[in-house]
Amino acid sequence: MLKIGVLASGRGSNLQSIIDSIESGELEAKVELVISDKEGAKALERANNQGIASKYINPKIYDSKEKFEQAMIDALEEYEVDLIVMAGFMRILTPYFVRHYKNRVMNIHPSLLPSFPGLHAQKQALDYGVKVAGCTVHFADEGMDTGPIIIQAAVPVQEGDTEETLAKRILKEEHRIYPQAVKLYAQDRLEVKDGKVIVKAVKS
Ligand code: GRF
Repeated sequence: MLKIGVLASGRGSNLQSIIDSIESGELEAKVELVISDKEGAKALERANNQGIASKYINPKIYDSKEKFEQAMIDALEEYEVDLIVMAGFMRILTPYFVRHYKNRVMNIHPSLLPSFPGLHAQKQALDYGVKVAGCTVHFADEGMDTGPIIIQAAVPVQEGDTEETLAKRILKEEHRIYPQAVKLYAQDRLEVKDGKVIVKAVKS
């Protein structure tokens, strides 16, 4: 069974959507470990409530980003994790981590990438005046919110939308597509070719 390690910095609602999808039997996988770079993150609490191992790793005690990432790698290896799921992890991974887990790290971003990477993606979309916003699950590479795209969902912008109302509707789609992307991975249906993801048909 696919062993997942989750990296999260905050509220962890995407983590919860994956846990729920496993509990309902929709996704055959196990979250082995949740790591946070923020002490007291809600995501750690969610892991504890679920009996999942959780670990706070303080980036400030390491003198380089790579050393901090090595501490994460050590923990992930201890739990023999196959796939790393970034769920609101507010750090850009260095090439050191990304190369170690090439095409084994997923991220979710609340925009239709490559539009609006970085912080406040929903506000960026509103400020630009796009009519369709959305979210993207992709394999993470060294860039900020870049890497081969796995699934996207479109969310129409409505008259009078604020950052909050749009973010809420996008989040609902995030909770739908992230477990789907992990499921495709668990079924070994994702192939990366020339920087693009090919979704393979179900094996019969
Ligand atoms: C989500 O909007 C995700 O797309 C972005 O950060 C937010 C995390 O939310 N990367 P949560 O911690 O999963 O609730």
